[in-house]
Amino acid sequence: MIGRLNHVAIAVPDLDAAISTYRDMLGGTVSEATDEPDHGVTVVFVELPNTKIELLHPLGDNSPIAAFLEKNPSGGMHHVCYEVDDIVKARDHLVAEGARVLGDGEPKIGAHGKPVLFLHPKDMCGTLVELEQA
Ligand code: CO
Repeated sequence: MIGRLNHVAIAVPDLDAAISTYRDMLGGTVSEATDEPDHGVTVVFVELPNTKIELLHPLGDNSPIAAFLEKNPSGGMHHVCYEVDDIVKARDHLVAEGARVLGDGEPKIGAHGKPVLFLHPKDMCGTLVELEQA
């Protein structure tokens, strides 16, 4: 069911420092920073030949990554995103298998304009998993 690795998201406390790490130190191709007010994050994409890294920085007062950064002050891997062909079909299968979908269980339009949902880390080997309908 799961397809390509769409991205790995890394929460960072200092976006400029993270951009410098990925652009100057690692020599990556790094996008401009984009504010995503609906998602409470500012995002920078690092394009890799086979996938993307998303650098996530909190935006606004109720950012969903604020608590994560409190627990991980120097930043850390926040989630992985796998592509699926049909997100509703994938969700129904996962729920039937006992996985918990975060929020109200319905897909939302994610940072790339495509339907996404998140699966509870406790059901996914301790990792927050995002599914995106590619
Ligand atoms: Co993501």
